[in-house]
Amino acid sequence: MQQRLKEILERALKEIRECREVAQLEKSRVKYLGKKGELTVFLRGMGDLSPEERPAMGRLVNEAKEEVETLLAAQRERVLQLEKERRLKEEEVDITVPGKRFTRGKRHPLTKTLDEIKNIFMGLGFTVVEGPEVEYAYYNFTALNIPENHPARDVQDTFYINEDILLRTHTSPNQVRVMEKTKPPIRIIVPGRVYRADDVDATHSPVFHQIEGLVVDEGITLGDLKGTFDLFVKKLYGEHMETKFRPSHFPFTEPSAEIDATCFVCSGAGCRVCKDTGWIELSGAGMVHPEVLERCGIDTTKYSGFAFGMGLDRLTMLKYGIDDLRLLFENDIRFLKQF
Ligand code: DAH
Repeated sequence: MQQRLKEILERALKEIRECREVAQLEKSRVKYLGKKGELTVFLRGMGDLSPEERPAMGRLVNEAKEEVETLLAAQRERVLQLEKERRLKEEEVDITVPGKRFTRGKRHPLTKTLDEIKNIFMGLGFTVVEGPEVEYAYYNFTALNIPENHPARDVQDTFYINEDILLRTHTSPNQVRVMEKTKPPIRIIVPGRVYRADDVDATHSPVFHQIEGLVVDEGITLGDLKGTFDLFVKKLYGEHMETKFRPSHFPFTEPSAEIDATCFVCSGAGCRVCKDTGWIELSGAGMVHPEVLERCGIDTTKYSGFAFGMGLDRLTMLKYGIDDLRLLFENDIRFLKQF
């Protein structure tokens, strides 16, 4: 019997020493000390011994149980310690590894210029409004006095959805849209995408951006247009800038003008960019044609207005010295990073 006890004890101790997880230890404890555990069963089996043998044997079994319990507790400590060390090692942070670089996003140069322009005009009491890119031929052409046979209406220049609907070729239709539903005084700018059937090159793109301006009130004159635009150009490009009007023609303004500004590159001395004139063209403009006003239900005996329309892409290229329009649309990160 003693021999069997010894054998169980040795097996238990060996097994426990080999445990590497708390769950394994618990299993061993149940296996040897649990209700049906080997040592428990062994103790119960002592009923078969003679009364003389029982006390000595009982002591031996109890000593064996104690030894197992002590080892279980000690091994548990060891296992927990090992586990802790393993976790520490696993979760170790190497503070010498170089950090990840996060690249910071930037506003697109077009957005930057537009934001500046919006701020300037908002400072002058203008409101920023937007209109649809898919537009009726009526607003894009007819309401703006552009005759049926005008070349701009040609399918070679304009993307038509159907006979009556197209992709707007300029932001001017919004003059009509706003005047139809707003009573003067009106002071708005309308930025947005416009579309023309052009091939892509350094100065052309089938999609580009315009900013329309419109002011309608009592007693508005060409002088107001001149003063407003001059102030705008000085705020955007610097106080040294000058503007001048050149006679032009647009069906929806009378009189019409092209507004030129001092050449950025040569400050007026004459260079390649301004073709030696010292001036560069910035915007179409004029006094809103009375027929356009009347079509929108505005009383021309009381009100008059001026309008202008300029290319945001061009304004941006001039501002930052960008020499190829395509750069604004390709979204090459090496280009965009510079702004
Ligand atoms: N819409 C014209 C264009 O795309 C530009 C323009 C000219 C707008 C004169 C105007 C204006 O408001 O008065 O070429």
